[in-house]
Amino acid sequence: MRPIKTAVFPVAGLGTRFLPATKAMPKEMLTVVDKPLIQMVVEEAKEAGVEHFVFVTGRNKSVIEDHFDKQYELESTLRRRGKSKQLDKLEEDLPGAGQTSFTRQQEPLGLGHAIWCARHLVGQEPFAVLLPDMIIEANPGCLAQMVEVYRQRGGGNVIAVEEVPMEHVHRYGVVGAKDWQDNHFSIDAMVEKPKREHAPSNLIISGRYILQPEIFKEIENVQPGIGGEIQITDAMIALSANQNFHGLRFSGKTYDCGDKVGFLSANVAFALDREDLNAEVRAALQAIISARGGTLTWN
Ligand code: UTP
Repeated sequence: MRPIKTAVFPVAGLGTRFLPATKAMPKEMLTVVDKPLIQMVVEEAKEAGVEHFVFVTGRNKSVIEDHFDKQYELESTLRRRGKSKQLDKLEEDLPGAGQTSFTRQQEPLGLGHAIWCARHLVGQEPFAVLLPDMIIEANPGCLAQMVEVYRQRGGGNVIAVEEVPMEHVHRYGVVGAKDWQDNHFSIDAMVEKPKREHAPSNLIISGRYILQPEIFKEIENVQPGIGGEIQITDAMIALSANQNFHGLRFSGKTYDCGDKVGFLSANVAFALDREDLNAEVRAALQAIISARGGTLTWN
């Protein structure tokens, strides 16, 4: 069983739900409090033992590359001003030399296609995929939980799942589950955006994958769907004919930051969870609600 040392971050989408914010700036650089989404998922991967960070980018995305590089001018200014704490943090956040790779998806032809664009950088090793707009608050992190299941189940492919109300399954990729052990199971069905009556369960695929490199061959055979997009779920369905797929119902809370309400909720939740911000944010929220005629009380 080969360890998971590489993670792929698809960041080539257009982020149309966040226009005009995403006209010139990548959606993945939107911040939850003060940290870009992309940095949050890179940290999650790092915690899980990943050493090679592969970004599949597009036009207007070069700022992501700059974000993971040294900023000499900023560093020397911080040094001159004696801001050693901020300086140390910048240093700590920086991936090591040669640990990042960037490739381009020239057209946003879907998540499956974006992952396929990373094939030469991934090579013949199993790898993780993390969607930067799905922020998962968990301890240990979601990918670290998945790596543990990967180890316990002797390899294969692992998908993080979570439960949603049955009336929402038609928006997501959905899996069927058998042979549960604690919070993990064997996947016996996968369907992309099923009608409620055809869904195998209410367990949805939630933006984290551990995949074997044979997935790349399967992506090549996937027929484009709506809008010419190549879906990763279709390739996984094909690969599941020959390989095991395991599901993990992870412990943690997901915020879909590709969606406005999910993004705003993440900002409120993460701000409230910060000791340095909690009191002021509570007071600010109370003031906002009461100025609009409502009341907000805390236990
Ligand atoms: P989304 O579908 O949520 O992102 O893809 P999007 O297409 O950018 O957003 P909207 O719907 O237009 O607002 C999830 C992740 O996959 C990447 C996106 O950048 C995002 O991080 N992605 C999506 C690609 O890299 N390439 C694609 O072709 C599609």
